[in-house]
Amino acid sequence: MSYLRNIKYTNMNFDTLLFEIENGTAIITINRPEKLNALNKDVFTDLDDAMSEVLNNDEIKTAVITGSGPKAFVAGADISEFGGLNLAEAMALSKRGQDVFCKIENSPKPIVAAVNGFALGGGCELAMACHFRLCSDNAKFGQPEVNLGLIPGYGGTQRLTQLVGKGKSMELQMTGSLIDATEAIRLGLVNYVTSADNLLAKTKEILQLIQTKAPIAVSKIIDCINIAVISDSAYTNGKSGYEKEIEAFGECFGTEDMKEGTTAFLEKRKAVFVGR
Ligand code: COA
Repeated sequence: MSYLRNIKYTNMNFDTLLFEIENGTAIITINRPEKLNALNKDVFTDLDDAMSEVLNNDEIKTAVITGSGPKAFVAGADISEFGGLNLAEAMALSKRGQDVFCKIENSPKPIVAAVNGFALGGGCELAMACHFRLCSDNAKFGQPEVNLGLIPGYGGTQRLTQLVGKGKSMELQMTGSLIDATEAIRLGLVNYVTSADNLLAKTKEILQLIQTKAPIAVSKIIDCINIAVISDSAYTNGKSGYEKEIEAFGECFGTEDMKEGTTAFLEKRKAVFVGR
């Protein structure tokens, strides 16, 4: 069935997501507002497929993930699917979530979260899997799993620690306390706070700026920065971040875009990148 990967959809229909393409940016909206966009099995299937489309569709250069409705980005994994899971089933659920979120984190195309309300549990983990985050001033973040007798299972113990440091990560996960947008920006969990009305526009503006840069260089930046924080040897392939950077830096010299970028600078004109 791998030939399906090459099909270019201009409009994709999902049960639990809205998927639009605008100016080269895929706008992926988790769309279960009546359940505060909680992540159930269907959302994971759709998100996985939406990410395949982002990766395989040449029309798409960047993507934003956001939530439907005024209240929530994503209020967590769907707790109604937790009942009666045995050890193996619970581990499979965690693995599935981690795999889909790693697909986002490892995407060579920039994926940014526009957090428009509650980002709790799996919602906070989804936002953290994106390359960086913006949020609205009514956003609330937290890993409240401990209140359910649980821990984060979609990468939250690792990514929250990478983003805010060990002590704060320990406190937030052990207390299950929520933080607001002001605290999220202070901790470095988000890069910008805007009004809810301006959130998508500001996110798209940043992504449009990134789209003017050399795509291969952008993808190598993602790869090298991921290696700086991801300890999983399956991802780093045994290389240190410094070794990876040397390799990626060298590879940029083989691209047309590097020649164009350096030539344009010397000729005092704006570079036009082609992604090769
Ligand atoms: N899983 C399943 N359903 C969820 C959910 C989740 N993580 N979060 C919210 N919902 C559902 C509620 O059950 C409710 O459904 P109903 O109308 O059929 O009863 C609906 O979404 C609205 O939520 P509600 O709790 O009524 O909204 P609220 O404004 O009173 O509270 C929250 C908002 C986010 C504080 C609250 O919904 C909450 O604590 N959610 C769970 C957060 C969590 O623990 N996440 C980690 C999961 S591992």
